[in-house]
Amino acid sequence: MPIHFNNAGAGLMPPAVTQAMTGYLAEEAQGGAYETEQRHAETLEQGVYERLARVLDAPVDDIALFDSATRAWSSAVSHLPFAAGDRIWVTPYEYAGNLILWTELRRRLDLHIEVVPLLHDGDVDLDWMSAHIGDDVAFVSVPHVPSGCGIVTPVEEIGKILAPWRCLYGVDACQSVGQLPVSTASIGCDLLTAAGRKYLRGPRGTGFAAIGPRLRAQASPPFYDLHIADMVADDDYEVRTEGARQFEYAERGNPGVMGLDAAARHHLARSDGGPGPLRDAVREAVEGRPGTRLIDPGSVHAAIVTFTHDRVSPQDIRAGLRRRGVNVWIAQGSHTPLYMRTVGIEYAVRVSPHHYNSPADVETFAVALRDVLR
Ligand SMILES: Cc1ncc(COP(=O)(O)O)c(C=O)c1O
Repeated sequence: MPIHFNNAGAGLMPPAVTQAMTGYLAEEAQGGAYETEQRHAETLEQGVYERLARVLDAPVDDIALFDSATRAWSSAVSHLPFAAGDRIWVTPYEYAGNLILWTELRRRLDLHIEVVPLLHDGDVDLDWMSAHIGDDVAFVSVPHVPSGCGIVTPVEEIGKILAPWRCLYGVDACQSVGQLPVSTASIGCDLLTAAGRKYLRGPRGTGFAAIGPRLRAQASPPFYDLHIADMVADDDYEVRTEGARQFEYAERGNPGVMGLDAAARHHLARSDGGPGPLRDAVREAVEGRPGTRLIDPGSVHAAIVTFTHDRVSPQDIRAGLRRRGVNVWIAQGSHTPLYMRTVGIEYAVRVSPHHYNSPADVETFAVALRDVLR
């Protein structure tokens, strides 16, 4: 088995997750998919929502399931009634998928997208935010941890700055759920989105969101699916919920939902402190090699270490480490484009351990890296 240091891509699913999925799939194949769904209705309709609500420290009514984090984000954001001239704040760490949506909305609706500046060390300039916030800011969009490097954005402090104002506040927690404590209640955000497959260790094709009542009251999705809406006359329909499930579609891959539920249970039962200490060891191993350059802005860091080398390409480093039994991934500059362009990074090696990795794994990584960069 390789040492898996690509949890920022997708974490390894624990056995409970694969068993939940394969067991459910076998039941579907033998007993019928609709019948199996009925048998597991408690988990699929209620339990998974309750457990994700606990994972995110959010009301259960705010939870909705999607097939990716991007779908979660775009489902919630794209139906907001922005007005021409509204200001949208992003940070330089914004994920490219979210930026594509902002860019499209700007084109259609004449919004102003403003990039919150950074301090010298790469931290988001909170004083700038406090000084420039006003009621023409309609949405503030912040990644808790970006895709391309390990900086942790102070989402709670930002929430306090924004609280008195009319803006909606969205946090992309794709890289933090499962590795850092995440509490929508403490953050005070109106939207928080994540993928199941990363540090939560759920299956691919799953995503979820906490969509708060302020955002729900403002959004007007053009369509509601049959799990929550009925045609009550030939020309009229009614929506049965004011909860976040109005943003979902009815059909979904239930084996994946069962896997996501098992991942949430597994996470809630964990008592370790997360992968934080391993990050420092990985960082030291990288820093110890001559010619490496860390892309490591900010003062608080999650377990994502990104670097380049002055002689060996990121692709060759990844391939060399893979041959030596260590999985790492390539961070593409274009996925965190605003920041990566300013520091001139097109590709970098991204090393992302989890709590199930050990100091011995880091040692193996350090030896392999020394070999590859020799
Ligand atoms: C910070 C961040 N946001 C959003 C996403 C998008 O997630 P998905 O591929 O599930 O849409 C990613 C994926 O890597 C990410 O790192």
